[in-house]
Amino acid sequence: MEKEGMLNKTVKVEGRTLRTIFLLIQAILAYKFIPLKHGGQKAVHVALLGIAMVIGAPGIYAIFKFQKETRTSRGMYSLHSWLGLSTIILFIFQWVIGLCVFLYPRLPDKRRAIFLPRHKIAGLFIYGIAIFTAVTGFTEKLLLFEVRGLNQFGAEAMLVNATAVITILFGMFVVLSALLP
Ligand code: HEM
Repeated sequence: MEKEGMLNKTVKVEGRTLRTIFLLIQAILAYKFIPLKHGGQKAVHVALLGIAMVIGAPGIYAIFKFQKETRTSRGMYSLHSWLGLSTIILFIFQWVIGLCVFLYPRLPDKRRAIFLPRHKIAGLFIYGIAIFTAVTGFTEKLLLFEVRGLNQFGAEAMLVNATAVITILFGMFVVLSALLP
């Protein structure tokens, strides 16, 4: 595949990643900032995370397909790919367990109360890995393009670096907002 096609594909994959992370952020902050009763906030939380899952999981499939078609790599060789697959697997687990504990069939109050802090910490942990995955992805792609001749100080490189910095700052802001009262 020629350079232009690779760049287009990369922009598409990064767009999907950012959309998924954006949904995750909104879902995590739903309990803090959405002016609804608790039940409404819960519905928003679950729905946004479900949409994030539906966007994110096929993304992984698309990447494997792309690698096979272009023979750019055999896949699963980098830290980024390991983190990405782990994030999706943990995410699906967390979503299904959250659903069973808090929504349906829903555990008794006492058990739910025990589970809640664990759910919050696990959720923030998964969110942290998602951010880390995105940042390693930006770096990996950038290095790949630089090896193939992309200007290290050019506009594309600066844009990717700036996006990574903004992603990290946003990530920290979201974790703090969820942890602070
Ligand atoms: C991958 C999926 C999920 C992730 C990453 C996640 C993450 C989180 C996080 C970080 C919080 C803390 C938010 C805060 O304190 O402001 C939270 C709270 C909560 N989540 Fe989830 N969650 C997921 C799925 C679910 C599902 C499927 C349910 C089912 C209803 C659910 C129900 C709740 C409830 C009831 C709270 C507590 C809200 C409160 O403080 O009263 N979560 N979740």
